[in-house]
Amino acid sequence: MALISLRQLLDHAAEHSYGLPAFNINNMEQIHSILLAANEVDSPVILQASAGARGYAGEPFLRKMVEAAVEQYPHLPICMHQDHGASPAVCQTAIRSGFSSVMMDGSLEADAKTPASYDYNVDVTRRVVEIAHAVGVSVEGELGCLGSLETGQAGEEDGSGAVGVLDESQLLTDPDEAAEFVKATQVDALAIAIGTSHGAYKFSRPPTGDTLAIDRIKAIQQRIPNTHLVMHGSSSVSQESLEIIRQYGGKIKETYGVPVSEIVKGIENGVRKVNIDTDIRLAMTAAIRKTMFEHPEEFDPRTFFRAAIASAQQLCKERFEAFGSAGRASQIKVIPMDVMAERYAKGELSPVVKGKN
Ligand code: 13P
Repeated sequence: MALISLRQLLDHAAEHSYGLPAFNINNMEQIHSILLAANEVDSPVILQASAGARGYAGEPFLRKMVEAAVEQYPHLPICMHQDHGASPAVCQTAIRSGFSSVMMDGSLEADAKTPASYDYNVDVTRRVVEIAHAVGVSVEGELGCLGSLETGQAGEEDGSGAVGVLDESQLLTDPDEAAEFVKATQVDALAIAIGTSHGAYKFSRPPTGDTLAIDRIKAIQQRIPNTHLVMHGSSSVSQESLEIIRQYGGKIKETYGVPVSEIVKGIENGVRKVNIDTDIRLAMTAAIRKTMFEHPEEFDPRTFFRAAIASAQQLCKERFEAFGSAGRASQIKVIPMDVMAERYAKGELSPVVKGKN
């Protein structure tokens, strides 16, 4: 399948100062929602699958569904990214199955639970970069652990998340260490820790500068200007969706997400990839609960799934527009993977590291 590399997409985003949502996929309905929205507004697409998605749908189904998306929307640049690869072996499997980008999350050990040492992180990430770049595939690394600055605890993304209570040095990525890490690993993109966490329960009140360290992004970006920054745990947790879920029988406690306006500030300071999973889940669940309640006689699941797709499509469209990726798909001509591999081999895509060290 003719996929675009993450690196090419994010280079374009950096050149034109916009950001791209990276949506998690598990099933056909989520893929349809994302592609319908992207097609509506002419946005490039990043689809990402976690280990949990592969466990749910099965690797061949995920691969074939993405292949179908490429066939149905040949005019849209689509990147297929492995989210939170827990080991070099996981990343290698994704590369073999045709993904155009992988994340080696060496911030945690291979159990995806124990915070790892800096040396371990460098070692596994560098190994993945070597095999991935040789075939033109991009690599995202992670430095610092995702987790709440309020509680020190991490949320879980399909089995990936630190256990125990983390301290501030683990929860906030250090700009000097980020520069060192990028130099040692040669990653294309770096996921940073700034107080966000996976899942619906991110903040007990609307976040402030104490709980969401948007300022930290600028300091990191100045040290590694051509390494694209990635914000994980970036669902906004719409209060409206929560209300609908509660109104129609769901039980979700009070919780807040990352406001779109804060993500936009992040994009202004170098964030190029914004990971969103929970928001699609909430939008779909709200629509399904409402439709089931309003049509108790209905037993065709397609009725519920259609409502879920429409609701998630609207959400994706709003994010493409807010992050500035709408209108960009037609500006991009996909560079084949073997050409990307040649460019890596010639050192044309090596990171720039500025400042001390
Ligand atoms: P959310 O749970 O905030 O959607 O984050 C998803 C994510 O970061 C996937 O890697």
